Amino acid sequence: KVGDKDVPVDELLERPSKQLDVPRHPKILRPRKLFGARQNSDGLEFGSRSELDALLEGMNAAPVAAEVLPISPDDIDAMMARAGSAFPKWRDTPAKVRAKILRCAADGLEDNRDALMATLSREAGKTLDDGIAEIREAVDFLRYYADEAETLCVTRELPGPVGEENLYSISGRGVWATVAPWNFPLAIFLGQTAAALATGNCVIAKPAPQTPIIGAQAVEILNAAGLPKDVLQLAPGGAEVGAALVSHPDVAGVAFTGSTATAKVIERTLAAKDGPIVPLVAETGGINALIADATALPEQVCDDVVTSAFRSAGQRCSACRILYVQEDVADRMIDMIVGAAKTLRLGDPFDQATDVGPIIDQNALNRLNGHIAEHKILFQGDAPTEGTFLAPTIIELKRDQKLDKEVFGPVLHIKRFAASDVDKVIDEINSSGFGLTFGLHSRIDARIGYVSERVGAGNIYVNRNQIGAIVGSQPFGGHGLSGTGHKAGGPLYLTKFVEETVISTDT
Ligand code: SER
Repeated sequence: KVGDKDVPVDELLERPSKQLDVPRHPKILRPRKLFGARQNSDGLEFGSRSELDALLEGMNAAPVAAEVLPISPDDIDAMMARAGSAFPKWRDTPAKVRAKILRCAADGLEDNRDALMATLSREAGKTLDDGIAEIREAVDFLRYYADEAETLCVTRELPGPVGEENLYSISGRGVWATVAPWNFPLAIFLGQTAAALATGNCVIAKPAPQTPIIGAQAVEILNAAGLPKDVLQLAPGGAEVGAALVSHPDVAGVAFTGSTATAKVIERTLAAKDGPIVPLVAETGGINALIADATALPEQVCDDVVTSAFRSAGQRCSACRILYVQEDVADRMIDMIVGAAKTLRLGDPFDQATDVGPIIDQNALNRLNGHIAEHKILFQGDAPTEGTFLAPTIIELKRDQKLDKEVFGPVLHIKRFAASDVDKVIDEINSSGFGLTFGLHSRIDARIGYVSERVGAGNIYVNRNQIGAIVGSQPFGGHGLSGTGHKAGGPLYLTKFVEETVISTDT
């Protein structure tokens, strides 16, 4: 039973909370090596078999959650009114109490790991590896924003002339709409929401229409941790609900993750409204490239490209969409990448042997197949015939072909380049206007410096894979068409959610 009443502040502060020294990657994270060279580790190399068995048992035992019905766009008015009434009290709740609730919710996520894993697999097709990583990220977001808010949301006395006192304070802005994607239906849903809550805002949170159940479970866990119900309300539904939410006159801010096109629609909607200027925090897509030159280690390039392009079935905004490989080493590297891609196993996300799960839905699969049909396929693996699976696919582009849209699935494009053409490759990458992630494999320090200074991307990864940004270590978010900033999981993110006041008093 989740909490349906406000928990007294004193009781909250006394609650035990596991603190921040929880290891980021518990052993269970990697039951075996999933990508690249396949190992028959049988649980010995990456954590104990019994832990994995316990997890699977817990997941299988988790009841299939009830259906979450969409609300009607007409419900938004009443929800907004409830949130508006709850706002002053929540805004004035001490930041350390808000932080405490978020930390208790982080503990709640860990305590409910098996049930959340089951939903992530059933609803979003997450493999075991991806499900664990997503819960870890959600926990990290809650604890990170709790810490950051405690530091940010304090009243400071600023210097001024003698006889004058200047008090600078930071508070929530009002009711935020958070609009989450289906590809990280727990971590991004909670990350955006926790940032708004930590800084003293109320939230109406819209999960993606494909993944409302995990959103509902996350809200239950926050309520159970002591979050008053009107401070955070769930608004499941499709585009009509999203439109009613962001266009509501009382919305004080919008945090959105999804396509650039939708972000622009939201931006225009906010600009067209009467009343205050409403901030938008948008994290959108990318046509993410990786450059491998002739000095790169082929085995490492292969492992990192396969992970970056195919893990999570390529359904990450950070995923590698195009590999630029120097022509001198291209044949060998492409052979290795194809060889590694062949070993990836597609199937039931509950199955420990599965490397790549399904595509989120039939529409997405149709779009991907439409793109593939327009190109010459260099390699395509095997996929189960039942379900919305797409086998890892590799397309080689000719010199005059360009990848001009984000292909959101396990489709890797490869292009060869001549050693003398590095600047042309940089220009081509930058010409997309996106700038989310970028990967570079080279053993020449001068080249690493030269290229990474010139490619415009928010997250640049050198000699490693380009996915899986870690909260607090790799603040995540892009430039240009890839988002507004500030970066999620970074030190400036919360500043987007607050308003500042200075009271200057003649003493
Ligand atoms: N933050 C995720 C990653 O880095 C993508 O959304 O892979």
